[in-house]
Amino acid sequence: MIDDLKHIIYRTVLEANRKMAPGDVEKAVARSAGISRKRVRLAIRDLVGTGELRFTYVHGTSFLERSFDRPVRLSKRIVVKPPNTSYRPAPGEVVVDIAGGAAFGNGAHPTTCLALRALDHVFDGDRYVESKAPLNGLDIGTGSGILAIALAMLGVHDVIGIDVDPCAVSEATHNALLNGLADQVSIRNTPLEKLASRFSVIVANIAYLTLKRIAPSLSAGTEENGLLILSGFLEPAAENLRKTYAEQGFRLVREETERGWGCMTLCRSHFKTPSNARWLC
Ligand SMILES: C[S@@+](CC[C@H](N)C(=O)[O-])C[C@H]1O[C@@H](n2cnc3c(N)ncnc32)[C@H](O)[C@@H]1O
Repeated sequence: MIDDLKHIIYRTVLEANRKMAPGDVEKAVARSAGISRKRVRLAIRDLVGTGELRFTYVHGTSFLERSFDRPVRLSKRIVVKPPNTSYRPAPGEVVVDIAGGAAFGNGAHPTTCLALRALDHVFDGDRYVESKAPLNGLDIGTGSGILAIALAMLGVHDVIGIDVDPCAVSEATHNALLNGLADQVSIRNTPLEKLASRFSVIVANIAYLTLKRIAPSLSAGTEENGLLILSGFLEPAAENLRKTYAEQGFRLVREETERGWGCMTLCRSHFKTPSNARWLC
């Protein structure tokens, strides 16, 4: 029963559409499980003690959140972990080491999780059509480098991660090295418009207004039948973004939301599925 209770608490924290204060978690779980708040409080203490959950403090208020001091599964196959922890991956699993730092992208934010799930989905099963030509990828607003590293681990041969923040460039470079991907993942502060290549797959987890502004550059930078994953926008903005990208020749393939955030996978193709397609979209 106690393990069931811990599971309920863990899911409550993960699936809430906002950060939850410990008292709110206690109240919600006690009500749904029909038990005392004291019992819930003790189970929360255990979960914090074992490192599965942690307390965070923002502007004088404490919250209960998933802890990233240990390996955490963020999608069907992608596990993110701190470098000093060990994890034995199951066949097909991808394990990304991310050192704690100041850059955005330890996997705690829904926009990162959504983008990772979209990437996992794209490379899962038979959606990716094996082709002799190697895939190249771009991660715009790479932060810690988490998405660029995941792209490389999922099978993209050459990945570029770009960011305007020098701290992100430094930390993402370090994380690429940490994962043994220094030759495969190149982190730069080059503006998107200055990149000469076209890419088979692009992921961008950045603010909505930036996603709107860079739509023409993304259209120019995505190869025909290439894939584009957009994250970082709130659900109400999705319709406008869909329209903007449809005007740039993209077709919506998949959409997902989490805690009010949206993520969409788009395919740059005017055709149904070209015979030389890399992706079945
Ligand atoms: C929400 S974080 C995403 C970090 C990481 N990719 C993730 O998914 O967790 C957005 C990042 O985009 C960067 N950024 C913002 N505007 C940008 C732009 N126009 N070009 C490149 N990077 C940008 C920020 O510095 C920040 O590191």
